[in-house]
Amino acid sequence: MHDYHLAVIPGDGIGQEVTPEGLRVLKIAGEITGTYRLHCRDFPWGCEYYLKTGRMMAEDGLKILESFDAIYFGAVGFPSVPDHVSLRGLRLPICQGFEQYVCLRPSLLLPGIKSPLAGRKAGDIDFVVVRENTEGEYSGSGGRAHRGLPMEVATETSVFTRVGVERVIRYAYKLAASRRKGLVNATKSNAQQYAMTLWDEVFDAVGGEFRDVKTERVLIDALAARFVLRPDSLDVVVGSNLFGDILTDLGAAVCGSMGVAPSGNINPERDYPSMFEPVHGSAPDICGKGIANPIAMIWCGAMMLEFLGENAAANLIVSAIKAVTAAGKRLTPDLGGSARTSEVAEAIIAHAKRLAK
Ligand code: NAI
Ligand code: MG
Repeated sequence: MHDYHLAVIPGDGIGQEVTPEGLRVLKIAGEITGTYRLHCRDFPWGCEYYLKTGRMMAEDGLKILESFDAIYFGAVGFPSVPDHVSLRGLRLPICQGFEQYVCLRPSLLLPGIKSPLAGRKAGDIDFVVVRENTEGEYSGSGGRAHRGLPMEVATETSVFTRVGVERVIRYAYKLAASRRKGLVNATKSNAQQYAMTLWDEVFDAVGGEFRDVKTERVLIDALAARFVLRPDSLDVVVGSNLFGDILTDLGAAVCGSMGVAPSGNINPERDYPSMFEPVHGSAPDICGKGIANPIAMIWCGAMMLEFLGENAAANLIVSAIKAVTAAGKRLTPDLGGSARTSEVAEAIIAHAKRLAK
């Protein structure tokens, strides 16, 4: 029996609605398998906390989080606080400070879910995007000068380090080698002649270590089209922070909804805790209605368990999610159903109990 200490940050908007449902499923999966116990500590960080304290998280937030086994994170951002303040005050400092340089984002078309793409059925779409998660376009390097004057200038400098590029690309190769052995390099080295040529060079060099992985270099604009036209041709895709961010909303969309796409911010060396959060944000347009889809958040819990080595419980949760979507009775409105957030979680729990018998 393992004991895991979990830092829980529900954050903003629907993050507060889906996180408790995810935790319920995680706890019950642990009771079913009997292999772990969760000890959760809740942190009220986010936009409401900011409006009260002027900070998105405690000043020594990273120090506090450092001792946990993992972080379970809902979403950050609300119209009451500018988005760059909220994101840069909470999610990014954790990803960057804890060297969570791999943002792992699977896209899987679940049974019973209708893709907006014609003629696709369960399993036809099954790829993983490995997004660089600590630097690139989101490095935070830049500034604004001559504020408010006609000559005002803004710079946002992309920062690509050889170490930063190499470590995420090597992770992607390893992942591809463990799957169907296809790896796409999402690049834009035709227009971005410095950063993206370094990226391509490193991609090719690391490829020497993984000769059985079949690689392709695809320009990001063409790759966006391919996500729609031939998603079945993708296995693993590796891209920069910005490219990966954009591609994974598209990946969620072709699999039916933002509400089904999980994500892990991983520090593969395990020097720091990793953080598991859905691809989606706080969805202010539906928050408070009790209709947010909890599948992404619950699936994040399964990814977290897998990372912690609890494969049986992780597989059980994913199987239960698939059973619920296949049955098609308990789906939230984003998937064409009329179920509420809690009803979906309850259905997943019921299926998990049944599958475990
Ligand atoms: P969003 O992902 O929150 O919402 C986009 C669309 O997808 C909305 O129509 C929403 O209703 C729908 N959607 C998202 N999750 C859903 C779910 N679980 N069930 C059903 N429908 C769902 O992206 P948006 O609107 O661009 O951003 C809203 C806020 O979230 C902003 O403040 C943004 O900065 C923040 N954000 C935070 C992220 C994070 O915490 N990692 C990621 C993306 C956005
Ligand atoms: Mg995003």
